Amino acid sequence: APSSRVSLTVNGTRRTVTVDNRTSLLDLLREHLDLTGSKKGCNAGACGACTVLVDGQRVNSCLTLAVRLEGAEVTTIEGLADGAELHPLQQAFIDEDAFQCGYCTPGQIMSGVGCIQEGHTSSPEEIREYMSGNVCRCGCYVKIVRAVEQTAA
Ligand code: FES
Repeated sequence: APSSRVSLTVNGTRRTVTVDNRTSLLDLLREHLDLTGSKKGCNAGACGACTVLVDGQRVNSCLTLAVRLEGAEVTTIEGLADGAELHPLQQAFIDEDAFQCGYCTPGQIMSGVGCIQEGHTSSPEEIREYMSGNVCRCGCYVKIVRAVEQTAA
């Protein structure tokens, strides 16, 4: 199958990879760059487990073609902490106990960062609406919304 070379910045590091043109950003991260924090739940845009930021915008990485990301800046859960210091939303997830199995957590946190950056935090309802694409099988929604709310405050 045809492949292409793409250069992008992932968590502050310039990466150049050659990938099959059909490769998703999620597979690029997980299989080519060994960044397995972004999870593959549905691989079809329905669960949010694969959420990352591309040029500051929240995206489902399973629906994003890697070859379209020439020059893009990608931030994944692995790039969120500042060295040993967790991002405030990561800390809030711990403080609020906002996970059980943890599988959806990286996507929830990246989506929550998008929610805060875009300012959709005026009420728990607005947060819930923005985060509605991020499914949690364990049903931690109340605590997830609380963690986002607390971080935005
Ligand atoms: Fe991308 Fe489910 S794996 S939305």
